[in-house]
Amino acid sequence: MARINENFNKLPGSYLFSEIAKRVSAYRAENPDRDIISLGIGDVTQPLVPAVVKAMHDAVDEMSAKETFKGYGPDHGYDFLVNAIVDNEFAARGIDISADEVFVSDGAKSDCANIGDIFSTDNVVAVCDPVYPVYVDTNAMAGRAGEFGADGRWSKLVYMPCTAENGFTPAIPEKTPDMIYLCYPNNPTGAAATKEQLKVWVDYANKNGSVILYDSAYEAFISDPELPHSIFEIEGAEECAIEFRSFSKTAGFTGTRCAYTVVPKELKREGVSLNKLWGRRQSTKFNGTPYIVQRGAAAIFTEQGKRETRSVIDYYMNNAKVIREGLSNAGFTVYGGMNAPYIWAKTPDGLSSWDFFDKLLKEAGVVTTPGAGFGPSGEGYIRLTAFGSAEATGQAVERIVSLF
Ligand code: MLT
Repeated sequence: MARINENFNKLPGSYLFSEIAKRVSAYRAENPDRDIISLGIGDVTQPLVPAVVKAMHDAVDEMSAKETFKGYGPDHGYDFLVNAIVDNEFAARGIDISADEVFVSDGAKSDCANIGDIFSTDNVVAVCDPVYPVYVDTNAMAGRAGEFGADGRWSKLVYMPCTAENGFTPAIPEKTPDMIYLCYPNNPTGAAATKEQLKVWVDYANKNGSVILYDSAYEAFISDPELPHSIFEIEGAEECAIEFRSFSKTAGFTGTRCAYTVVPKELKREGVSLNKLWGRRQSTKFNGTPYIVQRGAAAIFTEQGKRETRSVIDYYMNNAKVIREGLSNAGFTVYGGMNAPYIWAKTPDGLSSWDFFDKLLKEAGVVTTPGAGFGPSGEGYIRLTAFGSAEATGQAVERIVSLF
């Protein structure tokens, strides 16, 4: 008889965003006439920009002619996209990343999840608390998390609390981890890291042989020119870090799917190149992002594409401002939303995250994400996303404020 991976049995409930979707559809079924605004999952609402659409149309034309049709693409992405990434995202910032260190994929979520394949299941993993649940759940699936306790913590994970008291900046943990997940600008708290803060982690990882798994999916939302967009802006990071990047939020690709992961060639553990391991993993288990999608992604780096995507990012960041200022003027304590598309708001009157989530759903018809879903230290907060339409965002804020 085939036996299952028992680690799956240890996972509590459903994946956070599936649980929220379930609750919202149950409420919708009972209240079919209720107009519900979602500021829950960070899913974009604005269409692909014209430069991307044109590039995709042209690519469809190529696929429709015998002379220009493409089958399987290169394992790790077409040169036209990889070179555009290297030039625009790294060389332009003075970062030395070469084409063979970039691996194009179908999502930062999948890459953050799959990266565990190249690490021992005995590694000690550190995560921020609250945290994007994918890091935790996928390590639990792999058997690195131990048992899930009544306190909402996994027995083997090292939790690094990010609270208002520490400015949502994790402290170096007491127990030395082998793998450290960091996400900046942060999902869910909206906090951003300075170069000095990242340097502490890079030095620590290099001293201890840990690897930093750096999720930088929201770097395009940074407005402060002093803040780093990539961990590779920090000296020494090429020897201890892997970086995940995504076009999902930057250019509206949540449904289209395109991202990339950077694994420097200098990064070795036990004498083995992690770049080689990840390349081997990807070429065995993944057949690449569709040509049409990669053509669309490359168009983001044209002058027109840059201008158009910038204007969509500004549009979302204006939503962030509307949420931040609207809630804050109404007396809420809010964080984030300055260099990140997420606003982290304290629940009023000591309400639990899920109770406040229910209240906002039922009384305001607004979907948020309960902070507790991101980890025990998220209790007492909700997360709001700036990815709605401007109109719906304004309405949602008015509805929330009118309850108080
Ligand atoms: C979120 O809401 O945290 C994200 O949209 C989820 C994701 O990117 O997978």
